[in-house]
Amino acid sequence: METREPEMYDVVGIGFGPSNLSLAVALEEQQTPLKAIFFERQPTLSWHRGMLMSGTKMQVSFLKDLATFRNPVSEFSFVSYLHAKGRLARFVNNQDFFPSRQEFHSYLEWAAAKVAHRVSYNSRVTAVQLPQAYGEGPARHVRLAVDDPVRPGGVRVVEARNIVVSTGLVPRMPTGIERGESVWHSSEFLHRFRERGSAGLKRVAVVGAGQSAAEIVRFLHDNARDATVSAILPSYGYSIADNTPFANQVFDPNATDEFYRGSDRSKDAIWHYHKNTNYSVVDDEVLSDLYQRAYADEVSEEGRLDFVNLARVVDVKHGANDTRVTVHSLAADESYDLDVDVLVCATGYHPMDPSEILGSVGDHCLRDAEGRYRVTRDYRLATTDALSCGIYLQGGTEHTHGLSSSLLSNLAVRSGEITNSILERRVAAAAAADQAAEEEEGIRV
Ligand code: FDA
Ligand code: NAP
Repeated sequence: METREPEMYDVVGIGFGPSNLSLAVALEEQQTPLKAIFFERQPTLSWHRGMLMSGTKMQVSFLKDLATFRNPVSEFSFVSYLHAKGRLARFVNNQDFFPSRQEFHSYLEWAAAKVAHRVSYNSRVTAVQLPQAYGEGPARHVRLAVDDPVRPGGVRVVEARNIVVSTGLVPRMPTGIERGESVWHSSEFLHRFRERGSAGLKRVAVVGAGQSAAEIVRFLHDNARDATVSAILPSYGYSIADNTPFANQVFDPNATDEFYRGSDRSKDAIWHYHKNTNYSVVDDEVLSDLYQRAYADEVSEEGRLDFVNLARVVDVKHGANDTRVTVHSLAADESYDLDVDVLVCATGYHPMDPSEILGSVGDHCLRDAEGRYRVTRDYRLATTDALSCGIYLQGGTEHTHGLSSSLLSNLAVRSGEITNSILERRVAAAAAADQAAEEEEGIRV
């Protein structure tokens, strides 16, 4: 049911996490004439709240904030936030490049409040379509259907000359295993844990060897005091995240150019050598802390921490009172069952995939030989001649732009590049329209 006349925007952002917040900041700072709005399905800005445990830290320098790498004197920088909060000197005394995730969340909320006029919360975008009639030539805009926060159950329809899809990572469960009351994905961990409480928790298993798994094991060791925590690890314990200076260059802005221009072989090599900066790895501080806990647990004979190496979870069955997890040990090459009260799958995420939200508009987006979207350097989907509306991606471009695609490292620069691209294409479209009008005039004369 449509309840409002469609409004036309130059830019519509789908999702309002850090990526599109950074874009809103770029639009604001560059004082562009662009009419823009961002739709976010959640009631407020909420950055991985299900994993916002106290004591967890950022995995990127505070200088890689929403704006600094594009504009080092930005009023939206993390330093400006600290200054506004009166904590700049104390932050510096702390001598730590990596703030807590809670402080970074507070920074994001502070920045989001400054661009609140551009954001509509409680607004899930449910469809993107071509306009019913777009005359001769390519479609220059698309139509979006959005849950209307003003009239629950109603639909708001808007039109956009450019959309920027930034809907985030998608939680990944082990094949054949479904989420439920006693089977959680790490992305919902804190919500579920608070709902359930720790009373009666005797055994919890946490699957995975990445940062999420390690943080959850540590949290449960502190907060589920009567429970034994089994860490089910596909590898031989946790491995360290490579955060060393040379390797970190893979996240520098010019590394995006190198990756983009590179051959398939060079792209593969970069993945092969540097995926351990991010995937299935754990920060040294958390890793050392867990090892010390494991050792102390052994000395005290408490037996609350149980590390199951070289093992994968392959099945889950639900009994009347418990959940039975089938674990396959790679070492013994055999499977066995483990009864748990709760299974937490910290099994990672799929990259952002815009296909679902784009629907049939996606049919006009070009794919490579492996079926992946073709993306131009300015993060725009390459389209057929039937569509000239700009469809930009923030996320889902690991195959074209490299490792920083799903991370915060390159947000500020990427948002500036997208803003410039939209502005340049707007100028080019206006020039083309003027020329067409002149030619038309010439014919009439
Ligand atoms: P993000 O997922 O944050 O935001 C997407 C938004 O879109 C969400 O708010 C969602 O509600 C909204 N949305 C989805 N569909 C919608 C629809 N149809 N309509 C409207 N809204 C919709 N990286 C890093 O560099 N350093 C770090 O320290 C961390 N830390 C970290 C912690 C944890 C627990 C995780 C899981 C991941 C990280 N990351 C990270 C990686 C992470 O991808 C990154 O921090 C950002 O979340 C990326 O921001 P985005 O805005 O792209 O996605
Ligand atoms: P991840 O790094 O992809 O790790 C997922 C883990 O699950 C891998 O070890 C994977 O092993 C394992 N796994 C998958 N299926 C399994 C199965 N059936 N049985 C056993 N193990 C299985 O995911 P993540 O830890 O959620 O991290 C995702 C992103 O979030 C990263 O960018 C990370 O840095 C970020 N993050 C940041 C913070 C922070 O800033 N403090 C906190 C959490 C997460 P295989 O690879 O062998 O399948």
